[in-house]
Amino acid sequence: FAAHKGKQLLVVVTAYDAPQGRLADSAGVDSILVGDSVGMTTHGYDSTLPVTLDDMILHTRAVARGQNARILAAKPGPEELARGARHALLVVDLPFGSYGASVEDGVRAGMRLVAEGGAQAVKIEGASPLIRETIRRLIDVGIPVMGHLGLTPQSVHRFGGFRLQARTDAAADTLLSDAVGLCDDGVFGMVLEVIPEAVAARVTEAVPAPTIGIGAGRFCDGQVQVLHDLIGLGDGPVFRHTRRYVDVGTPISGAIAEYAADVRERRFPTADNSF
Ligand code: KIV
Repeated sequence: FAAHKGKQLLVVVTAYDAPQGRLADSAGVDSILVGDSVGMTTHGYDSTLPVTLDDMILHTRAVARGQNARILAAKPGPEELARGARHALLVVDLPFGSYGASVEDGVRAGMRLVAEGGAQAVKIEGASPLIRETIRRLIDVGIPVMGHLGLTPQSVHRFGGFRLQARTDAAADTLLSDAVGLCDDGVFGMVLEVIPEAVAARVTEAVPAPTIGIGAGRFCDGQVQVLHDLIGLGDGPVFRHTRRYVDVGTPISGAIAEYAADVRERRFPTADNSF
């Protein structure tokens, strides 16, 4: 993943269950993120804050099973398996409440995501001294870590809403030095969320690890998007930083309405559906 910096743009998408993991993997993305955005896309919360570590483990297991099902169906030969080109890197968010109180909590949470969930790497928001120490300790125990700077959704209350970050020169400088610090700690990549394009470009130029942007403009080393935003599976607005490639919501509710009408009009089930 990290070796692609400067050579090939990286593509990351979120997934939260087995079918989504299988579909994202078969689309050929570089990495799948089991984001704590699952709280908003799937559980109906208005922030990521209520998502627990157990929730994340459950969703990670499901995504990993979806990826594995695809691999088994594709029947890779020994050469493909030996190359290690098996599937997209599975990165998982450390949720709010799993790491903020102590370094030990964060390391244990990361280990559970790997051991119980099947995560191959974890992502953690911020760059405070405690978080940086947690990152170093996670890497020490063998867990690759992705950083996350800018609009870190777990700090939504501190920001006073989901707002553009790094707007002033001072804030941009702080973000840049945080990014350099995270790289010194050993992150293999970092998400830059909802910051001015020029700030993201400066960070991308300055750090050795790939920057993965979301609402951070055109000049990052890759992009990450929330699957539900791409496919229209949600009832929220289309944000400026996303693009809706398909609207699956309309055909899904249309299909359910057709099914309901068929049942009410005795068109389903037919003799062919019966035993
Ligand atoms: O939780 C998430 O999906 C994320 C991405 C938006 C980067 O952190």
